[in-house]
Amino acid sequence: MHAFAIDQLGEAGSLHELAMPAMAADRLLVRVRAAGVNPADWKLRDGLFGTPKRPFPIVLGGDFAGVVERVGAQVRDFAPGDRVFGIAPGGSYAEYVSVESSAVLAKIPQRISDAHAAALPTAGLTALAAVEWLELHASESLLVVGATGGVGGYAVQIAKARGVHVIAVARSSNELAARELGAAEIVAYDLVDVVAAVHAKHPGGVDAVVDVVSDDSALKRMAGVLRCPGGRLASTIFAADETWFSEHGLRAANIATQQTPQWSRSGLEDLARLTERKALRVHIAAEVPLADAALALERSKTGRVTGKIVLTI
Ligand SMILES: NC(=O)c1ccc[n+]([C@@H]2O[C@H](COP(=O)([O-])OP(=O)(O)OC[C@H]3O[C@@H](n4cnc5c(N)ncnc54)[C@H](OP(=O)(O)O)[C@@H]3O)[C@@H](O)[C@H]2O)c1
Repeated sequence: MHAFAIDQLGEAGSLHELAMPAMAADRLLVRVRAAGVNPADWKLRDGLFGTPKRPFPIVLGGDFAGVVERVGAQVRDFAPGDRVFGIAPGGSYAEYVSVESSAVLAKIPQRISDAHAAALPTAGLTALAAVEWLELHASESLLVVGATGGVGGYAVQIAKARGVHVIAVARSSNELAARELGAAEIVAYDLVDVVAAVHAKHPGGVDAVVDVVSDDSALKRMAGVLRCPGGRLASTIFAADETWFSEHGLRAANIATQQTPQWSRSGLEDLARLTERKALRVHIAAEVPLADAALALERSKTGRVTGKIVLTI
């Protein structure tokens, strides 16, 4: 089968002809139709996650949508012909993936396309996990930093669907995109000082922050927008000094999505339900053929993608 893989860390990656993935009694073989691109894909490729646990060649990616081709003898919940989406630990930039039936895997509702389903898993589950951790109630306020990217775009919509007042921090040229996601207010980070602007409009502080961008020192500044005591902040890039926040009357968490309850079939089913009832809209920034995955990864690496890039396979 064709797969986009690397033979060593740091290379751009290329199309490989690889053996079909191994099957087992508790596994499904899925013909992949679309693979979602996430920053984690180029971070793994570039060695930012250290030595990989898998042998080379390493197939990149994780998020996928496709059709079940075969199931092992012990598989009960899925059958050949089912459309499924999820996360393939062995990489998804490939014509086929083999996944355990207990993996992060769910059926795709009829009205959701393969590209849209493939754009959901990692970013959607991270947004869901962050919003859950923040325990947001209707009429509370949430500031989303990085609001028009993958995680941020879903976080804005999931919070909005819960009746939360969402303030999006986005580039000024993305104001319309942020409004379309459901943000009630936009703060253009390229035009104003975010902390000063939010503080001026919300002198009592906002209830919560999801931040997918700021480093440790920027987050400590960002803490200035939170109501104190009781404000809470979720970082997706492991930049929150949780002890420092707690010493300042705040709560902070570094969201490791793979260790949350949302990293599961039920998390995916939540995303599918939200998408079906149009509370969650998937914005596809680009659909790129598998052969051009290196270009898609370079675009992701700019950190300037509005919505999600999806590979078509
Ligand atoms: N911890 C976990 O389990 C986990 C899970 C998923 C993702 N992540 C990480 O979370 C991060 C975000 O992921 P993603 O998929 O959302 O990435 P993404 O799709 O590339 O989105 C990043 C967003 O950040 C915005 N941005 C860049 N600089 C900014 C700034 N100074 N202020 C405000 N916004 C800014 C960009 O918007 P503009 O175009 O407007 O600049 C872009 O929309 C990545 O580092 C990813 O690896 C972690």
